[in-house]
Amino acid sequence: MKILVINGSARKDSNTRKLAQRAVDYLQEQIKEVQLFDLEHESLPILDGKPESFAHPNVKLLKTYAEDANGFFICTPEYHNAVSGALKNALDFLNRDYFTGKPVSIGAIAGGGKGGINALNNLRLIIRGVNGLVLPQQIVVDYKEFDEKAQLNKEAHSRLVSVLDELIYYVGAVAKK
Ligand SMILES: Cc1cc2nc3c(=O)[nH]c(=O)nc-3n(C[C@H](O)[C@H](O)[C@H](O)COP(=O)(O)O)c2cc1C
Repeated sequence: MKILVINGSARKDSNTRKLAQRAVDYLQEQIKEVQLFDLEHESLPILDGKPESFAHPNVKLLKTYAEDANGFFICTPEYHNAVSGALKNALDFLNRDYFTGKPVSIGAIAGGGKGGINALNNLRLIIRGVNGLVLPQQIVVDYKEFDEKAQLNKEAHSRLVSVLDELIYYVGAVAKK
């Protein structure tokens, strides 16, 4: 069982990366085979249809990780009520060949208040567009729920565990068939 975690923020010192890293930590304890694709450090060209863009090493890396994965945990910041442009661009390099029959869990980082849900609804629709099996649970994390060591408080950690346990369950169930 292999799970790919995607950090959908290209921003330096990203809060979304913290969520992605906490997910990697937990998944590694549970299933061992986890990859992180991090748009902060593995930046992609804009999808422009040019051969050099498709040949970019980070595009190839993303495709290899996505092809190998049995399931995904995709994290996005909420930017202007939607996913980040960086994540949308990354997903535009993929298609249903990478997602069909694979469970996908989603998480968002918001700026406080009631943010995050619009980004998750947007991401749910995008994953539907590539034929992924988006799972019912999801998580919004407020950036204030991280401490100075980028650890989640107890309550947010248990929300994350619940989402990831659901993902592990469904990836296991689908992979057996
Ligand atoms: C361009 C931009 C737009 C944002 N729009 C929203 C928004 O619509 N709703 C919200 O809750 N937070 C919004 N925020 C706050 C971010 O969600 C918050 O800063 C989060 O930590 C960003 O994740 P990042 O650190 O991975 O970039 C916005 C931030 C930026 C930079």
